[in-house]
Amino acid sequence: MKKRLLTGLQSSGDLHIGNYFGALKPFVDMYEDYESFLMIADYHALTSLRDPQAMHRNTINVVKDYLAAGVDPEKAVIFRQSDNQDHTELGWVLNCMVTVPFLMQAHSYKDKVAKGKEANAGLFTYPMLQAADITLYNVDIVPVGEDQRQHLEYTREAVGKFNRTYGETLKEPETAILDGVGVVPGTDGAKMSKSYGNTVPLFGTPKEIEKAVMGIVTDSDGDRPENVYAIHRLLKSADELDPLYEAHKGRYGDLKKALVADLEELIAPMRKKRDQISDDDVKAVLQDGVARAKEVSNQTLARVRDAVGITL
Ligand code: ADP
Ligand code: TRP
Repeated sequence: MKKRLLTGLQSSGDLHIGNYFGALKPFVDMYEDYESFLMIADYHALTSLRDPQAMHRNTINVVKDYLAAGVDPEKAVIFRQSDNQDHTELGWVLNCMVTVPFLMQAHSYKDKVAKGKEANAGLFTYPMLQAADITLYNVDIVPVGEDQRQHLEYTREAVGKFNRTYGETLKEPETAILDGVGVVPGTDGAKMSKSYGNTVPLFGTPKEIEKAVMGIVTDSDGDRPENVYAIHRLLKSADELDPLYEAHKGRYGDLKKALVADLEELIAPMRKKRDQISDDDVKAVLQDGVARAKEVSNQTLARVRDAVGITL
C-alpha cells in the first residue's frame, strides 16, 4: 500500500524558474511514490484575490503548468477545493475546535496585520480550511515549502483536539519540507520572486527568456559571474560548467548565451506540451479529479458528522 500525499497550490501568477526548481520539480520527482492528491486552493486564494477573471485564469494556468511539468492526471488526483464542499464543511467544524488567540498567532494572519493590510475573516480562519484539506484525505505526508511549516502544526493541533474530544477520528499528517534546491536567485542576485520583478519566466517565449538572462546583473571584475553561474548550476553539474566558465573568463555575454541555450533545452519540451493543453482539457481533468477526491472525503466527513452527533 502506498502512503498518501496531498499538497495544495495557490496560484498567483505566471511561474518563474525559482518556482520550478523550488516547488514543481521536487513534486514531480516524488508524487508517483505515493497515492497523490494535488489540490488547487482557490478558496484560499479568495482571501486575497478579488478579480474574477484572474481567479479563473490562474486556476486554468496552474493546472496547465503542472501537467506540462510532468504530472500525469491518471496517477495523481488533481482537483479544485471549491468543487468539493466537504472542505468548507470540515473547515467549519475545525474552526469550532480552536481558539481566537491560537489563530491570531498564525503567520499568514500576523504578517498581513503587521503590514497594516486588511485581514478578512477568511484569512483569519485560513489554517483550519487547510487542516480540512489535509485531514479529509487521511493524508500521511504533506510536501510544502518552509513557509507552510506552521500551517501543518496548526493542522496537527486541531486534529489532536478533535480526537481528544470525540475519539480517534482524523489522521495527523507529517510535514515533508520539499527538498528543493534552496533559494534560486533572481536576475539581480536577490531571491527570485514575482514581487521583485527579477524573474526568468518558466513558460516565457525564447525571446523573453533571453531578455531576462541577458539582463542578469554581473560584477565587472573579470571573475566568474556568480549570478549567471548559480542559475546555470540548476541545469548542469560543476564538472560540466567549470571548464566552460574558465574558457570564457570575462566574456559574460557568451556565458549568458550558453545559459539561454541550456534553459531552452529544459523549457522547450514543456512549453510545447503546455501549448497542446486546452482549457477544456483542464476542465475535464478537474471534473474527473473531484469525483475521485469525493470518494475519499465523503467517508471522512461522514465519520466526523457521526462523531460530533450531527447524524440523526
Ligand atoms: P513568489 O516569491 O514568486 O511569489 P511563491 O511565494 O508563490 O513565489 O512560491 C511558490 C512556490 O515556489 C513555493 O513553494 C516557494 O517555496 C517556491 N519558490 C518561490 N520562489 C523561489 C525561489 N527563488 N527559489 C526556490 N523556490 C522558490
Ligand atoms: N496554504 C498553502 C500555500 O499558500 C496552500 C494550501 C492550501 C495547502 N491547502 C493546503 C498546502 C493543503 C498543503 C496542504 O502555499
